[in-house]
Amino acid sequence: MHSPISRRALAIGMALCVLAFAVAACGSDDNNSSSGSSSTSSGAAATKAQKVGVLLPDTKSSVRWESFDRPLLEAAFKSAGVPVTIENAQGDKSTQQQQAEQLITNGAKVLLLVNLDSGSGAAIESNAQSRGVKVIDYDRLTLKGSASYYVSFDNVAVGKLQGQGLVDCLGNSGTPSIAELNGSPTDNNATLFKQGYDSVLKPLYDAGKAKKVADQSVPDWDNQQALTIFEQMLQKTNNKIDGVLAANDGLGNSAISALKARKLKQIPVTGQDATPQGIQNILSGDQCMTVYKAVKKEADAASKLAIALATGKQPEAGLVNGKTNDTAKDVPSVLLKPEAITKDNIKVVFDDGFLKKEDVCTGKYASMCTEAGL
Ligand code: BGC
Repeated sequence: MHSPISRRALAIGMALCVLAFAVAACGSDDNNSSSGSSSTSSGAAATKAQKVGVLLPDTKSSVRWESFDRPLLEAAFKSAGVPVTIENAQGDKSTQQQQAEQLITNGAKVLLLVNLDSGSGAAIESNAQSRGVKVIDYDRLTLKGSASYYVSFDNVAVGKLQGQGLVDCLGNSGTPSIAELNGSPTDNNATLFKQGYDSVLKPLYDAGKAKKVADQSVPDWDNQQALTIFEQMLQKTNNKIDGVLAANDGLGNSAISALKARKLKQIPVTGQDATPQGIQNILSGDQCMTVYKAVKKEADAASKLAIALATGKQPEAGLVNGKTNDTAKDVPSVLLKPEAITKDNIKVVFDDGFLKKEDVCTGKYASMCTEAGL
């Protein structure tokens, strides 16, 4: 049997294995345990180091996925000592399915999924479940899925901030004509955002205090299509649009580009994600507001839940703060609070470490930053 020293080495090795989620790589491997060598065990853990997988959706619907979610998730898992592999499906559902498959084959025990639509997301989740792999819906809920948790923001609240933001920016000037540029019809979040902003805008439409002149969804949140769609909205209304409820900064920028191409004056345009471009558009007055979602908090919460799932433990008390119905069942959820950003509180996104001045206050924006007190 083992000497006390090799027993200790084995114990340390096992502890490292558990830490690295490499239970399968260590505990069930007779060669490693009988050798009693911690370096062999942890070495095995290091080479089999793909234990949490993240499936990001694309690079075109928002810069957030690659610019914020990827580095912040990497940092969150790194500081927890958990190996993570992050993939991006570039908007392709079958690619995402293959990436999920590959991550599972490589030993992932937990997947974080940002689905491309609920159907493909649910298929990924049921396959994972059949292989003993747990899934966390990251940012987007998979309807009729089988995720263990859902980590996101209160997305109806995001929409309410956009609706109220637009109303505030429009002020009390007659009966404004409003155009709604909604997110992807296949993204459950887009439905929730709309629910939020329509809860603010519809009573105004109904009371004749504002007029809805256009209302259209943008497939896959595609900014190029948004430009065409908004162009058509301007065409149809004879340029008579006084405010744009754009569901994120990318769509907002498409509307701004179309307005500029027609040499029309600045009008209130909303957004979401507090992207560098969105913040620049706010500084220049082309955009009126954005919604800041602290992705760091979202990434941290998701990493904690992933670790709890992989180790079979309950997550820390208070982390899971709600349930969200996926139309078949309630999914335990972490729902974080979004914040509206206008020129007046633009500092928030820098003070929070989300954006760096050098990524925003460049070229013609340098003097605007100084003026805004940045
Ligand atoms: C996210 C937004 C993002 C949009 C497009 C939504 O599901 O919540 O932050 O702008 O997708 O990627």
